[in-house]
Amino acid sequence: MANPSLLILPGDGIGPEVMQEVRRVITWFSEKRGLAFDITEDLVGGAAYDAHGTPLHDDTMAKALDVDAVLLGAVGGPKYDNLDFSVKPERGLLRLRKEMDLFSNLRPAQCFDALADFSSLKTELVSGLDIMIVRELTSGVYFGEPRGIFEEGNERVGINTQRYTESEIDRVARSAFELARRRSGKVCSMEKANVMESGILWREVVQKVHDEDYPDVELSHMYADNGAMQLVRAPKQFDVILTDNLFGDILSDCAAMLTGSLGMLPSASLGAPNADGRPKALYEPVHGSAPDITGQGKANPIACILSFAMALRYSFDQGDEATRLETAIEKVLADGARTADLMGEAGGTPISTTQMSDAILSALDASL
Ligand code: NAI
Ligand code: MG
Repeated sequence: MANPSLLILPGDGIGPEVMQEVRRVITWFSEKRGLAFDITEDLVGGAAYDAHGTPLHDDTMAKALDVDAVLLGAVGGPKYDNLDFSVKPERGLLRLRKEMDLFSNLRPAQCFDALADFSSLKTELVSGLDIMIVRELTSGVYFGEPRGIFEEGNERVGINTQRYTESEIDRVARSAFELARRRSGKVCSMEKANVMESGILWREVVQKVHDEDYPDVELSHMYADNGAMQLVRAPKQFDVILTDNLFGDILSDCAAMLTGSLGMLPSASLGAPNADGRPKALYEPVHGSAPDITGQGKANPIACILSFAMALRYSFDQGDEATRLETAIEKVLADGARTADLMGEAGGTPISTTQMSDAILSALDASL
């Protein structure tokens, strides 16, 4: 059987810096755990624009559609700020998401105990926190028609349309229920069915998918505004939160800050199953290209390394190895390893990007 395939797109700014560390982690798993991957590396974002005049070459797009998983660093930077909208670095990422049809965006909010005092909430509220927000990513108000700014009488009107079809709700609901089965078996779906028809349909379809195919999963529904409140009041009541594109955008950023630094946050975006039944998948840190620290060895590689852990779990059926990696990260943090973004008020001497992954590799060695 062929090795699983991985396309690596380091991108811009700190993207290549953190990805270099991820490659060392991947090599460790190949050498020490016998996980061989067929890896190709290519350009995306500003780097692709510099080489080809486009933020995503057609050949790269074709490769992305062909592989088992794509791992992306970050795109963008001041050098590209004045480019035409059609070739901006972000367009490369948007094209990947669109053509791979990545409708299910997974954003974990996991609190590493060693960083619990980083949270804006009290330690006891977040210690041990491990929730997963599933955000619909390809439809809803960011895409619905009609949209635009129009003349109406003697003033202008700005219009966006929240629009969801049954099949769009159905497929993202399934992805949340599948995930819940691999976790605590609990989904809370959030919309505003009290004031929005799209919310009424959302609730109906989610309930129907549940009753027909996932009766073993515990399902609850919550209005999204209450959900926001509950998320900062008692976040540990949740496991999987299922929500639409707009609410998911806001709720996932809110949940992220329960756990501390941007340098710690991974994500996955999953699409329809390919020929062998695995979802098309793109894994990337939540953070951007961080031009303010690029080239200084300051970037925290953990968000990108945790994104690879998600790839191990969701694309390569290596949940135990993903846990091994996450546990190694937990351990180095508990031992006090801190990149500059994790220093906090106490101060101290931060370690570099490479030193952080050195520590993680040692912890992995110790796990054998
Ligand atoms: P950013 O996430 O790049 O940086 C925000 C702040 O967090 C900066 O102070 C940065 O130094 C810090 N930071 C981010 N990641 C870090 C890490 N791994 N370790 C330590 N510190 C880290 O967001 P910003 O500044 O708004 O955007 C910078 C560029 O990145 C822009 O061109 C933007 O368009 C692009 N961007 C790209 C994204 C992507 O590729 N998915 C997402 C967000 C922004
Ligand atoms: Mg956002």
